[in-house]
Amino acid sequence: MTTSPDPLIALRPWEAPELTSWNRLPMNAVDRRAGAIPLDGDWRFQLLPAPDAPVGGAWSTAYVPGAWTVQDSGDLPQYTNVTMPFPDIPPHSPAANPTGVYEREVDVPAGWAGRRIVLQAGAAESVLLVHVDGRPVGVSKDSHLSAEFDLTALVRPGARTTVRLTVVKWSDASHIEDQDQWWHGGLTRSVLLYATDPLHLADVTVRARRDGELRVDCQVRDARGTLPAGWYLTGDLDGLPLAQDAEFDRLNAEDERVSTFLGEARLTTTVPEVRPWTAETPHLYALTIRLHRADGTIADTSRHRVGFRDVKIVGRDLLVNGERIYIRGVNRHDFHPSTGRTVSPEDMRADLTLLKRFGFNAIRTAHYPNDPALYDLADELGFYVVDEADIESHDHAHEIADDPRYVNAFVDRVSRMVLRDKNHPSVVIWSLGNESDYGAHHDAAAGWVRHHDPTRPLQYEGAAKLDWAATDDASDIACPMYAPIEECVAHARSGRQTRPLIQCEYSHAMGNSNGTLADFWSAVESTPGLQGGFIWEFWDHGILQRLSDGRPAGRTGPALRGDGVAPPGHRWAYGGDFGERVHDGPFIADGVVLPDRAPKPALYEHREIAAPVRIEGVEQGGVVIGNHQHFRTLDWLKGEWRLDLADGTTLYAPADLPDLRPGRTAAVPLPFELPQEGGEAWLTLRVTVAEAQPWAPSGTELCVPQVRLRGPSPVPVPPVSGAVQVDAEGLLRHPLLTAPPTLTLWRAPTDNDEIGGMADRWRDWGLNALSRKVVSVREEAGRITVEAVYTGGPADVRHRQVLTPVAGGVRIEEEAELPAEFGDVARVGTVFETVAGLDRLEWFGQGPWESYPDRAAGAPVGHHALLVEELFTPYLRPQESGGRHGVRHFTLAGPESGGVRVTLDEPRQVSVTRYRAGDLTAAAHHDELVPRQGCVVHVDAAHRGLGTASCGPDTSPGYLVAPGVHRWSWVLGEG
Ligand code: GAL
Ligand code: MG
Repeated sequence: MTTSPDPLIALRPWEAPELTSWNRLPMNAVDRRAGAIPLDGDWRFQLLPAPDAPVGGAWSTAYVPGAWTVQDSGDLPQYTNVTMPFPDIPPHSPAANPTGVYEREVDVPAGWAGRRIVLQAGAAESVLLVHVDGRPVGVSKDSHLSAEFDLTALVRPGARTTVRLTVVKWSDASHIEDQDQWWHGGLTRSVLLYATDPLHLADVTVRARRDGELRVDCQVRDARGTLPAGWYLTGDLDGLPLAQDAEFDRLNAEDERVSTFLGEARLTTTVPEVRPWTAETPHLYALTIRLHRADGTIADTSRHRVGFRDVKIVGRDLLVNGERIYIRGVNRHDFHPSTGRTVSPEDMRADLTLLKRFGFNAIRTAHYPNDPALYDLADELGFYVVDEADIESHDHAHEIADDPRYVNAFVDRVSRMVLRDKNHPSVVIWSLGNESDYGAHHDAAAGWVRHHDPTRPLQYEGAAKLDWAATDDASDIACPMYAPIEECVAHARSGRQTRPLIQCEYSHAMGNSNGTLADFWSAVESTPGLQGGFIWEFWDHGILQRLSDGRPAGRTGPALRGDGVAPPGHRWAYGGDFGERVHDGPFIADGVVLPDRAPKPALYEHREIAAPVRIEGVEQGGVVIGNHQHFRTLDWLKGEWRLDLADGTTLYAPADLPDLRPGRTAAVPLPFELPQEGGEAWLTLRVTVAEAQPWAPSGTELCVPQVRLRGPSPVPVPPVSGAVQVDAEGLLRHPLLTAPPTLTLWRAPTDNDEIGGMADRWRDWGLNALSRKVVSVREEAGRITVEAVYTGGPADVRHRQVLTPVAGGVRIEEEAELPAEFGDVARVGTVFETVAGLDRLEWFGQGPWESYPDRAAGAPVGHHALLVEELFTPYLRPQESGGRHGVRHFTLAGPESGGVRVTLDEPRQVSVTRYRAGDLTAAAHHDELVPRQGCVVHVDAAHRGLGTASCGPDTSPGYLVAPGVHRWSWVLGEG
């Protein structure tokens, strides 16, 4: 061990879990942004091999805020889920421990003479050591909360000071920051310097109730020690003055514990006709608090935005302002594909705007306090936030939960989060962290929160999972992860339920996923006691990586395209792509948006499930409309009717939305006289924003509920004389097809198929490489019957095609007999390939976005058209993609030439892509795919649901493809 004269190094704080900080100021909620000097920008930087290695090498530069792991520092990101990136057991860390030394000069304003000067570091992963002009200042841990240090005695106003921030990557704290995400190092949030009067606000606690009562409790200190006499507070809320609570002052003065150095005062007011805050109606009031000296001059000011609302658990219901709300939530990490963990307010606004547009009303800040700006945005745009402390000891959860050396860290992290975020109306629930077993440390932290903030419930999955019905643990909510919906329903019906049941994680969004989301929600909405949950998760954490040298592209890399595809010369990296030996591969890509925030199709499913307006059904001559919001009428929305007939007719009419209170329904007259002809008919209500919202301009589409007005009327396709061309193998010859229609039982495995073990089973059965053998080809009156078997697996699959010439083409009737050995396959269907030049698909069926049998509630039936490229979703690890559910007929055509027209016997799963299932299966990243010239077309008799088996329940039995005989028929024409 090298010894160092520097006490911060000599103490080896990176191996001392008891030491959570040294000389750090207490966390508080006073707003210090006004007048602060931002220290963001380029800092001198060097990366040491270990914290006790000597500084003295060459300086480069690093940008703050930012992780050095995405800044060409030589140290790269590493992705692990549960496994710690090093083998050392807690509280130890490896000897090879990248340590970043950041240094810069700061000119301390001369005007700050006599003031108290504070340095704030927004976030440092995972240990921060602070020096000023070579002198030790302090230490901090807790990678996702800021740390403040009083520099008054160390700096000279008017002079230049050197600030050094040393960040040690691995420490005892890494063991409790073992979240499923990339490991980075660096100063990932802004650094600033500010000054206050010695007499200052030490903390401000705002309590604003739905009835308009406002109470602001302030703590006042003086850096010189004893408080000067005569200080007092004033405040106003949107111009309404607050009064210092005389009764509070009187009681305080009489209290013998009254302090000479900690001032406490309360300001109150009652707002008449207050406009309450909810996620649907996020009304905010501007609050200013002023601390005055005895002579009336202002010593300190803090500004806040206040939302009036109540959060309460009554029985097994979580109530906001007395209403039992649904939690339509998502888990959100601070993530950006270029900067790793540093996020700008603009990017966060884009995240939240997108979430609002797709029907989300809640965020769990998985698994640490998110960037402070996130909470301001949640207040402003309207989200219910579960604020989660930065504690996850996943790999060594059990040992750490009972290791007394760590108790301080648990309480420290939870209490600091509460102290920072307590004034945000959006924060409705505190969370003690994630996946850290359940130990005494949790009860200690829970005790702290419950005492300090009795106004909000508390949750911790690790406690509640032991018994959902317990009443004495560290959780006020049963908040399981990935619990099968049947179990939740059974619990709610058991008579044992004692507290709300809101899943902290559900519907794992890895790859092509989120099957059965609609079933989950129909169970929630029909089961008292269930209130929803948080989808795992928002982001696919693909890091933008240069293909030329394998390095992260970083902050100064190319602009993102926004369509899900990485810019040219780049790809989205996942675990292992930076050469990590220990990693968890693509498991990091499990969000509802691709790394450039392009929405995955699953988001449209969510949007429809969360629709504020729904069609409840059709009653004689009328359509029943329902308002599914909790607090708003429909007056901010606008509707338009559309009628789609199978024959291609589309009619439009304006819609008058009824004046409905939340939870109410009303019938409105049918907008169209249904034409006699035209076949199957669907009525769609397109709902858009009428009154611009902070998250959506007017005209933004919010949902497209629909109802079927008439079922299909089959049009017979009589045979005609003529001949169908087949080759000696019985394979269809067709001028527009480059590969004839054959049977397939394989799809490029989704992440759910792979991790759930289905894909391996299918491989064992040989379904990815069945070979076709013709058995017989018979012709009878122009009609050809081809019998074939598909071999290679444990049993043969018999397949028959009957090809009949019909007006405009050929009818293909198919039958496949799946032996009992093939218990559950991906699909039974036909695949063929077309000539080049057919680039546009028009279809009547569900769309326009991708849909699958168990993810088809959000894709309305209608006439849709897209380019073939637009049909495909570039999931990070290539897999089955681009499917459309419930397709009745489609045309695949080029700009001039005619194309292929397919009419199906009944609504079926169809996909048209540039890739064979084998192409997708073989590629590990999207950029490895080489699009084919023609199209690969799948028409499925049956297609397996997607489920969520990469982490959680598989699809429901009703969406499986069972053995036995499958029959389907289709007409292949030219059109
Ligand atoms: C949960 C965990 C998340 C994430 C997810 C799988 O168990 O809380 O952090 O790992 O599983 O993606
Ligand atoms: Mg974990």
